[in-house]
Amino acid sequence: MMAIKTIGLKKIFKSGFGKKIEALKNLNLEIKKGETFGYLGPNGAGKTTTLKLLIGLLYPTSGNAFILGENIQNVNIKNFVGFLPEQPYFYSYLTAWEFLDFYTQLFNIPQKIRKKRINELLHLVGLKEKHADLQLRKFSKGMLQRIGIAQALINDPEVIFLDEPFSGLDPIGRKEIRDIIFKLKDSGKTIFFCSHILSDVELICDRVGILVHGELKAIGKIEDLVETKLKSAELAFSGLEEEEKEKIRHFCNRMIEHSDKTLAVFNNRESVNEAIKIIMENKGALLSLTPIRETLEDIFLKEVTHDGQTT
Ligand SMILES: Nc1ncnc2c1ncn2[C@@H]1O[C@H](COP(=O)(O)OP(=O)(O)O)[C@@H](O)[C@H]1O
Ligand SMILES: [Mg+2]
Repeated sequence: MMAIKTIGLKKIFKSGFGKKIEALKNLNLEIKKGETFGYLGPNGAGKTTTLKLLIGLLYPTSGNAFILGENIQNVNIKNFVGFLPEQPYFYSYLTAWEFLDFYTQLFNIPQKIRKKRINELLHLVGLKEKHADLQLRKFSKGMLQRIGIAQALINDPEVIFLDEPFSGLDPIGRKEIRDIIFKLKDSGKTIFFCSHILSDVELICDRVGILVHGELKAIGKIEDLVETKLKSAELAFSGLEEEEKEKIRHFCNRMIEHSDKTLAVFNNRESVNEAIKIIMENKGALLSLTPIRETLEDIFLKEVTHDGQTT
């Protein structure tokens, strides 16, 4: 059984003047239990729409989706799904404790275990006891995001949806969120999160999907999407006469001279080999060869620009 499965999921919004926006075009997706999935795409790609469909905040125009085998039309799924919205709304005069306690009541969590659950969650998201009695208006953006995640976990859900959990955070805040996601992953939860911050995704996802204009353009493990073949290579050398350097300059992409050292960038293996041959034959010194591989960012930009969409 898949944690999340969508079959031809589609959402069309009708705006004024009969204009239609195809926010999600025909999504077929299968996410295994325990998987951490990064759902990537530029602004307006349809990521939030997908999440809202999956957790039942929006109705699909057509298609179907299942969470742990249950049709998403079934309100029961709320019991094993957690959700951090893109811009969570916080009751700023409640303390962290009161805020979480409010959600334990919404979920009818028995009185007996409420206190324990809240303490566990505060600990999980790295908030200290002293924060429990602090009003949310005094929380930093990073702390609010962590309280938001605690709220999403209040019902101990199997499947967790996080909409842009890293947005607006500094590097430390992002690392803290990453660490929480790692902990959830370790405890076997299925995590589906949207992001446009690629560097955070590469570190934590088992697989990613790239959504552009409502269409899933690519899906897979990052190492499968990102071709392992060299995109380019950078060669550093010294000890060549101007004449030999000129030969290399002819077929390299770029050459930078730095005192007695020369850096040349090539975009294919043949050129690299040819340059090494020239360096060796002329008794030059090969200082380093650095492969430059394709990154997730390259794939992302390729998919986005193919489509003529900019962020
Ligand atoms: N309630 C709505 N009514 C009309 N259009 C909407 C609505 N929600 C989203 N859209 C449109 O659907 C598209 C996808 O939006 P969204 O899912 O929020 O993208 P993302 O989360 O990837 O930035 C956008 O063009 C957006 O303007
Ligand atoms: Mg969004």
